[in-house]
Amino acid sequence: MSTTFRTAVVRDPGGPDPIEIIDVPRTEPGPGEVRVEIAGAAVNPVDLAVVSGFFHEIGLIERTGHVGLGWDFAGTVAAAGPDAGFPVGSRVAGILPGFDRDFGTYAEQLVIPVDDLALVPEGLDLTTAAAVPLNALAAARLVDLLGDGEGRSLLVTGAAGAVGANAAVLAQERGWRVTGLARAGDEKFVRGLGVDFTQEAAPGWDAVADAATLQDRGIALVRDGGVFVGVLPNAAPPEERGVTVRVLDVRADGARLAELLDAAASGRLPVRVHAVVPLDEVAGVHRAVAEGGVRGKYVLRP
Ligand SMILES: NC(=O)c1ccc[n+]([C@@H]2O[C@H](COP(=O)([O-])OP(=O)(O)OC[C@H]3O[C@@H](n4cnc5c(N)ncnc54)[C@H](OP(=O)(O)O)[C@@H]3O)[C@@H](O)[C@H]2O)c1
Repeated sequence: MSTTFRTAVVRDPGGPDPIEIIDVPRTEPGPGEVRVEIAGAAVNPVDLAVVSGFFHEIGLIERTGHVGLGWDFAGTVAAAGPDAGFPVGSRVAGILPGFDRDFGTYAEQLVIPVDDLALVPEGLDLTTAAAVPLNALAAARLVDLLGDGEGRSLLVTGAAGAVGANAAVLAQERGWRVTGLARAGDEKFVRGLGVDFTQEAAPGWDAVADAATLQDRGIALVRDGGVFVGVLPNAAPPEERGVTVRVLDVRADGARLAELLDAAASGRLPVRVHAVVPLDEVAGVHRAVAEGGVRGKYVLRP
């Protein structure tokens, strides 16, 4: 077996051709860890922001060498350390959070603590499962930050996107009266989530969950004394008019992810894959996503 594996990294953020595929040394799993052979890694806005240099600019990436890409993954356990729990061959998914690191999930493999992993249920193929973890965990966390709705009104911006669509469903289950803000062409999808739809929202909402990163324009839609939950780390809009401002900070959580994967497998939570593409085509995929308008995630297959 090879002693190295391939992974996509950024060397020159913001540069003309920033993504490179390199070989890095394979490591063995320690206690409570497994090595996962990755079947799919979803491409998310956070990865585009790493490539653009956004997180370097706001101080979340300080290293001068290459930076790893990819947070989401699904794959198969290839080696298990002591007390790992998941036997070799288990189908698993998870996230590898963190900005300032030398490789991520755009890779052939990774070593990860089992507490951060969940089994992928039967009926969910690994490339579809790869599009679930980051966005479903983010949506669940976002709804935690909102709390119980008790019939109050919630505007979810970007409701046709992965975080927004999952948040719309989960918030409705927590008692919010949810309206999704999305593009005109997304009306059918958003209504299909069981929530109301708008393509232009007037102010006055009890809460706004801002998955479209409208930021100042988003907080302006909250009524005086309401709640705004943003999704951009280190970039909360200033509080105004007594509006409580919170910012999403997703974390790995295997137990919770297991519930969310079950919900995706049963169709309770939406999961959309736009295309499954070889890892070698990562630069073109990033360009396509940057143009906007893509519905569903690209999943990279190493
Ligand atoms: N802080 C955290 O822990 C955390 C975790 C996960 C995700 N996030 C962030 O959450 C955000 C959403 O992620 P995602 O994966 O859901 O992205 P996504 O799938 O690309 O969805 C974003 C959606 O917002 C829509 N949108 C943007 N501007 C809009 C506008 N003015 N009106 C209506 N719709 C608009 C986009 O439509 P178009 O494509 O047509 O523009 C797209 O459908 C990203 O910024 C991501 O980085 C944060």
